[in-house]
Amino acid sequence: MPSSCPNYVRSYVNAARNFLSFLLLACVIFLLASQSAERVQSRPSGAGALDQKNDFNAALKRVNKNSVVPPGLEASLPRFPALKRWAKFERPYGAALSRAALHDAASGAAPGSVAGPGAAQSSVVGPSVNQGGIADSSLGSKVEALLRKMTLDEKVGQLVQYSAGQPTGPGTGRTDYKDMIGKGQIGSLFNISKARDANAFQRIAVEQSRLHVPLLFGLDVIHGFRTEFPIPLGLASTWNPVLVEKAARVAAREASATGIRWTFSPMVDIARDARWGRMAEGAGEDPFLGSAMAAAYVRGYQGSRLDAPDSIAACAKHYVGYGAAEGGRDYNTTEISEPTLRQIYLPPFRSAVNAGTASIMSGFNALNGIPTSANAFTLKQILRKEWGFQGIVDSDWTSVAELIPHGIANDGATAARRAFLAGVDMDMVSSLYHDHLEHLVQTRQVPEAAVDEAVRNVLRVKFALGLFEHPYVDETKEDAAMLRPDYLQIARDAAEQSFVLLKNSAGPGGVPLLPVSKSVGKVALIGPLANDSANMLGCWGALGRAEDVTSFQTALLAYLGNENVLSSKGTGISEGSDQEMGDAIATAQKSDLVILALGENAPEMTGEAASRSKLGLPGRQQELLEKVLATGKPVVLVLFSGRPLTLPWAFENVPAVLAAWFPGLEAGPALVRTLFGESNPSGKLVVSWPRSVGQEPLYYNALNTGRPANQANGDPKFVSRYLDEQNSPQFPFGYGLSYTSFRYGPTEIGGKQLKASALNTGLHGGKDTAFTVTASVTNTGQRSGDEVVQLYIRLQGTRVAQPVRTLKGFERVTLAPGETKNVHFTLSPDAFAIWNDHNQLAVEPARVTVWVSPDSAHGSPTELEIVP
Ligand code: NOJ
Repeated sequence: MPSSCPNYVRSYVNAARNFLSFLLLACVIFLLASQSAERVQSRPSGAGALDQKNDFNAALKRVNKNSVVPPGLEASLPRFPALKRWAKFERPYGAALSRAALHDAASGAAPGSVAGPGAAQSSVVGPSVNQGGIADSSLGSKVEALLRKMTLDEKVGQLVQYSAGQPTGPGTGRTDYKDMIGKGQIGSLFNISKARDANAFQRIAVEQSRLHVPLLFGLDVIHGFRTEFPIPLGLASTWNPVLVEKAARVAAREASATGIRWTFSPMVDIARDARWGRMAEGAGEDPFLGSAMAAAYVRGYQGSRLDAPDSIAACAKHYVGYGAAEGGRDYNTTEISEPTLRQIYLPPFRSAVNAGTASIMSGFNALNGIPTSANAFTLKQILRKEWGFQGIVDSDWTSVAELIPHGIANDGATAARRAFLAGVDMDMVSSLYHDHLEHLVQTRQVPEAAVDEAVRNVLRVKFALGLFEHPYVDETKEDAAMLRPDYLQIARDAAEQSFVLLKNSAGPGGVPLLPVSKSVGKVALIGPLANDSANMLGCWGALGRAEDVTSFQTALLAYLGNENVLSSKGTGISEGSDQEMGDAIATAQKSDLVILALGENAPEMTGEAASRSKLGLPGRQQELLEKVLATGKPVVLVLFSGRPLTLPWAFENVPAVLAAWFPGLEAGPALVRTLFGESNPSGKLVVSWPRSVGQEPLYYNALNTGRPANQANGDPKFVSRYLDEQNSPQFPFGYGLSYTSFRYGPTEIGGKQLKASALNTGLHGGKDTAFTVTASVTNTGQRSGDEVVQLYIRLQGTRVAQPVRTLKGFERVTLAPGETKNVHFTLSPDAFAIWNDHNQLAVEPARVTVWVSPDSAHGSPTELEIVP
């Protein structure tokens, strides 16, 4: 600098020079630091301070990208207070997470488990922590390293899936799998059911394909693999998530022994319409119970570590709203408002994601005009951005190709592009990704970066499952893994707890007909389902075999002895002859008690593509029922069905009715133990039982309307009602009888006033406000029994109308005769939160009614107020 420069200029220049040097130094330090962070990130795994930093970087990236706390992240946030604060900002569409949900995500607990049964440990259910799942930060570097080596053709291959066994839909896509696998053009096969076959395909993938990427084998393991449990509607009727988790764990152990590492379960669709056959596959009509069940299945399938060889990846399906099919007709259109979508249909999926589900299946239905397999709002905005889901989105069977008949694509390439860009990673069966995706990238209609992202999702799951380390299954252990005695015991417990006693009125002598005494005399077991093993396997039998089932008749003969059991079919399920009918009447007449086993044909009338417009007994079964009853003998009706059946005559005239659903392998012993009192029924309905089809869709958590029918002193004409039917169900949601009786004390609450502002602070991560509700429950009868105690609330005065009741907690308690227990529930702010008219989750000032009750239609209410 020239010495002639004035001093003040000199000092400015020096200051600027110093500042630049400082800036340069800071940049160097920053670069060095970020390089070392990258090195840490590329380490396969490890512990200690460096990994904390690694976690932080990964977490930061995810939060940046998703603008919301990803599931499971909360657990790591306490170490990073600044990030924790940042992550709690309110998100678009009001998707800030409730503390309860975050807690669930971190602990793997089912929503509502504060109010539900505690997590039990057993030989089958291990600690449910879901470590080593798809959110494991060590997966990223492995995925990236492999992705870098892949050609576009190989990337697309990971997104292609075909059925290579008994088809579970129309067609199979292709059949030249071996050739395609060798070229790395298939990522997943499903419907394989033998370890030998899985290994044979896997050998081609691992030994012949260029990059040795293992295949992921899937199957519909819906309510058991070889050990079949009750159908999911029955499993949910247990209101026992711990038991459901055990059943799912058993299914995972058996399925994985065959090489299956992916199940297309749980089905978490809310079902409000009994005409829809798929009601059988889910947990019924309630989002709270459905969420608890969704998490239980995921925990059971995925176990404490996804990479354990006996864990399988779960798939929550069918995302989303599929159960709202208009008219209950399968695959039909759905129209669901955003608050209803968020409040009713999404929570079970959210719960599955929080529990760590490795995959989600997109649905068949159009949702508000946009098919769910091409719906960027639900798949990208909600699932990925708001919830931070990192697993696979698989299409349903040909649902990508079905975009053409839906009317949003006129050719296969457009269908593939629409589904893919909306967020469907993997194409099940339709083969359109295989046919078009590469070309779509080459012609710049699909960015390769989007393909990379989808492949990451698939590889992440494959790495998380440990498939690269252990691609094969030990064929010698396959058979021994099935049907273990402890599995059968769980199947029996599940069947017994799934039965719902609908009616039990007095028989001869004025005492309830059930339980039946062993010395009853001669029992006539009549009906098409009395000695039917195949139907006991339900609508998704997986590898269940009829010969493994102990039928009702077999168990009854074993219990009472051949000399005390008379049997007659009476009619087939759908058709029967006069001679069969006559034989049944004659058999009934010779007996002291008749047990009628009536109902639906599981594979034909329930599950997929099994919608019904009439919900009575099929064929001549109603006639059989009436004729048997006319003999004057005491009659117990056992109903086998995948949905509630409209049988007003039966409920009026038959003294005892048990809903048995389809109970699985242990159907016979479980039924006999229940009917003869060795087991006390404790199942409760998870769907409202209609009186007639015209009431459907029917659900307890309905809005009141402006002209409700039950207003005291109201006008009897201008109200919301049918002229020819009651509004109320035959039996309400939550209903189920026992052989003992329970008395509920008054509902007691921990205060009369809550502040919306405090609840909202708690809801969005501030100091939590827990609210307690208590009621005493006494066993007033002569037998020990389980009661499912339910907690409901109603909010009035909110801007968006709320249901007349909403389930917010439940607990199964066992009570000895005369015993009283105080059942406590703790409600956190999210229990009072609603999706408001801006599609934000918030607590609003309201009048709150609270019930602790045996079902959704009874109980003594108590009130409190939420003030601003
Ligand atoms: C179609 C069904 O909708 C789905 O639930 C099932 O997982 C797939 N087929 C695969 O079988």
